[in-house]
Amino acid sequence: MKFLRVLNGEVISPPPVWLMRQAGRYLPEYREVRGQAGDFISLCLNPQLAAEVTFQPIRRYGFDAAILFSDILILPMALGQNLRFAEGEGPLLPPLQSLEALNPAGAPAIYAPVMETVRILRAGLPAETALIGFAGGPATVACYMLDGKGGGEFPRTRNLAYENPAFVDGLIDILVDATIAYLQGQIDAGADCVMLFESWAGIFPPAQFRRFVIAPNKRIVTALKTANPDLKIIGFPRLCGLLLGEYVRETGVDAVGLDTVTDPAAAIAACPPGTVFQGNLDPLLLKSGGPALTQAVETLLAAFAGTPHIFNLGHGITPDVPPEHVTQLMNVIQGSSEGS
Ligand code: CP3
Repeated sequence: MKFLRVLNGEVISPPPVWLMRQAGRYLPEYREVRGQAGDFISLCLNPQLAAEVTFQPIRRYGFDAAILFSDILILPMALGQNLRFAEGEGPLLPPLQSLEALNPAGAPAIYAPVMETVRILRAGLPAETALIGFAGGPATVACYMLDGKGGGEFPRTRNLAYENPAFVDGLIDILVDATIAYLQGQIDAGADCVMLFESWAGIFPPAQFRRFVIAPNKRIVTALKTANPDLKIIGFPRLCGLLLGEYVRETGVDAVGLDTVTDPAAAIAACPPGTVFQGNLDPLLLKSGGPALTQAVETLLAAFAGTPHIFNLGHGITPDVPPEHVTQLMNVIQGSSEGS
């Protein structure tokens, strides 16, 4: 698999490609299955339909990797926190008041359908297509559990991090253990590698970033690599800025997803030799298409020439992207030869 070869440190040109949120509302075939499933959570917990929407972008574009169709908030739901997705509003949870409200022992039974989805996927994907399992990073999942909704500010989480850090530590401890078990389940079911989405890593000042992001991510990476010596792990500490190199060195991730605002050359300089990079085209360019898209893709390929690189976006595809702009992106990448 081209994707796993690059994760193992090989430089391949043109690079393997997948896109965050590649299964989603920008695809008419996704909207159809989503309508059939009813709501988003029912879709995540329906192995046949979740597998179908995972396959859709692979069939349409031939990406080098498929990512399990699920959500980072399925884990808090499995731990016993209520979760709903209000149409047009994103996720809503009752802000967590006490750790005793969570029941880690009950989680595997609730997320069992996700493991069934992984089995269907690995059996049904082409042999050359890698299957990525994933979970939210503990800090990011804690943000949603403590604030109860997204939006990017997470005022309650940030206040608790100062006023009651022991409570935040306690929650993160529960999440670290639950995430290790959840990802191990996906690996056992057939995931070829895993990715940790720390999408809100960037809201924490350095001392808290080290405590709530780096240390917990390191515990997850260490435990999974001890149990699965050949496993490759991708971290995505979004908006972590100058702490990127420290994140990669300390956690031991094999690859790092770069957000839209990170300069490739600065990232390469900041990370240990051999780090694999994933990213980081601005998803807005997929909305506009045209020469701006073509030029940005070529610039990005040149920036990573000679470095192990997995082509991706800096954040997820938005629902307003015309599917033919993704075809354009694929054509530009396939027509390129990185470094030439
Ligand atoms: O194709 C894929 O990337 C795989 C599936 C996937 C989804 N969410 C599907 C989804 C993955 C890997 C995620 C991760 C996820 N979920 C993250 C981390 C990555 C990131 O985007 O920063 C976060 C923060 C979440 C939480 C979440 N899920 C939010 C904030 C929202 C609402 C925003 C939105 O786009 O509606 C979701 C919903 C969601 N997750 C959708 C999809 C396809 C849209 C749901 C729908 O069909 O209505």
